Amino acid sequence: MKKIDRETVQRILDAADIVEVVSDFVHLKRRGSSYLGLCPFHNERTPSFSVSKSKNICKCFSCGKGGSPVNFIMEHEQMSYYEALRYLARKYNIEIKEHEMSDKEREEESERESMLAVNDFALKHFEKNLQETDDGRDIGLSYFLDRGINEASIKKFRLGYSLEKSNDLLNAAKSRGYNEKYLIETGLCIKTDQGRVYDRFKGRVMFPVFSISGKVIAFGGRTLKKDVAKYVNSPESLIYKKSYQLYGLYQAKQAIVKHDKCILVEGYMDVISMHQSGIENVVASSGTSLTDGQIRLIHRFTDNVTVIYDGDAAGIKASLRGIDMLLAEGLDIKVLLLPDGDDPDSFAQKHTSSELEEYIAANETDFLQFKTSILLNGVKNDPIAKSRVINDIVRSIAVIPNPITRNVYITECSRMLEIDDRIVALQVNKLFMERVGKDNLKKQQEAAAETISDIVNVEEPVKPVEAAAEVKRQPSPVDSNSRFLRAYEQGILRYVLRYGMLELCEDYDDLGNPISVKVIDYINEELKNDDLKFSNPDIEKTFEEAIKCSSLTWEEDNCKNNETLLKERESYIAAGEE
Ligand code: CTP
Ligand code: MN
Repeated sequence: MKKIDRETVQRILDAADIVEVVSDFVHLKRRGSSYLGLCPFHNERTPSFSVSKSKNICKCFSCGKGGSPVNFIMEHEQMSYYEALRYLARKYNIEIKEHEMSDKEREEESERESMLAVNDFALKHFEKNLQETDDGRDIGLSYFLDRGINEASIKKFRLGYSLEKSNDLLNAAKSRGYNEKYLIETGLCIKTDQGRVYDRFKGRVMFPVFSISGKVIAFGGRTLKKDVAKYVNSPESLIYKKSYQLYGLYQAKQAIVKHDKCILVEGYMDVISMHQSGIENVVASSGTSLTDGQIRLIHRFTDNVTVIYDGDAAGIKASLRGIDMLLAEGLDIKVLLLPDGDDPDSFAQKHTSSELEEYIAANETDFLQFKTSILLNGVKNDPIAKSRVINDIVRSIAVIPNPITRNVYITECSRMLEIDDRIVALQVNKLFMERVGKDNLKKQQEAAAETISDIVNVEEPVKPVEAAAEVKRQPSPVDSNSRFLRAYEQGILRYVLRYGMLELCEDYDDLGNPISVKVIDYINEELKNDDLKFSNPDIEKTFEEAIKCSSLTWEEDNCKNNETLLKERESYIAAGEE
């Protein structure tokens, strides 16, 4: 690995703006002087990832990860320090003078970077084939043009062509000094048991798959013949984990944030044709069922998803399967069915962008209506089948995390299914509680310790990721007395953290005005009166932080929370479950 001189490093550090850097990956909303979004480092539904423009740092208040722009890129993109600096240099157009790599240096590059490099070479090679070779133009390019894909789209999605030869890429890459090892590790080439190496992609139009930051991590190659598997795709590798990628996200992410909505389709061609028709907030799950990882990826950019699938039976089934997962992630979902026989690609090709937009707006249906109408179709007069449908729909509603949304659906569902809403509510809440119960049981053992260390970390100056983990790992130096008291002190702390801001009783101030005494105030007063302090320093620190928080943002957060709880309580009362 080559060194970057100190002056350039400084220029990069000076140029990197944390909000800009993080925004490439996380949908940030302004909140006061800082920005807030869903943490990209762990699975969450309410944002706890905070970005401070003035301090030029970010931090997740829940998992503790974050740091400077460089730290963030290192963690997020799994890069080394120098890789992260190079990334930022590219982003900010800062020139790093580098000499042509020697063979030795090339070998020293990290595995990952080597794989990305060879993929990048392949990308350009396939592009060149498509534009500059006779076969590429006659077969590949004319195929794309025939299918209505124009030159601009070909450039935007970096489409290419692999020649109908066994060693075209292999030879080209090797002659440029790329190591065969990485051609095999990326899956661009295949090595037989006998040791023969040959190109995986032959005579196919090539769709590169980009990571969220724009690196080529895989390829899909479509055959132009009838009798072979339609697509050959790169295998999973160090740089390509299929279940954490969405085709087109790199090209779509800005539009997704702009429209606060993500359209989900099935295939490469669907994404490209939709883009070409002016709808750019589109990504594809690449033919497989959606995974949790992919859903989380979407959720980082928006809360709203419209799923478009072909109007055929398989398409409908696929959309039903994905829906519960999207709901459980707390996303708002709409479903759009296309006229029978059309897929997003053919539909987009037939219509102008305004027609397309109008069609989407007019036909996207709320998931519940969609599911209900599909499932109820034909079973209205069959009570047993109907009750099965109702149970199925109730199960979907029960996975929705937000109580208000859940409630809205309970009302809507009972209306559509023509059953008493109290019964629906009862069943939904029962299932919901079962689920929450199961989740909680698992979490409870870890919860106390976690809460304490998280809160200790909150007001720490933000450090690189490792440092935050460090705080958790190292036990504070305590004597035997403190150890003995620990369980009791934790008990007190638990009351503070759980119930601290609840009103305990009314009291009167010096002038005789009534004031409300909160649990935390009461405990604080009592400790002060008896001149007691916590003997465990981490508990003491946590307690002090809680006192600080109680006079800051707590009221506002609590109001919101109470509103939610009240709504939920109402729904229980409505369901006869006081
Ligand atoms: N797919 C795949 N392997 C296959 C078939 C499909 O990986 N043998 C994935 C591809 O990502 C494809 C998506 O599933 O884009 C959707 O499949 P399909 O609708 O059959 O392909 P299209 O991309 O629409 O291709 P075309 O319109 O050219 O037939
Ligand atoms: Mn298609």
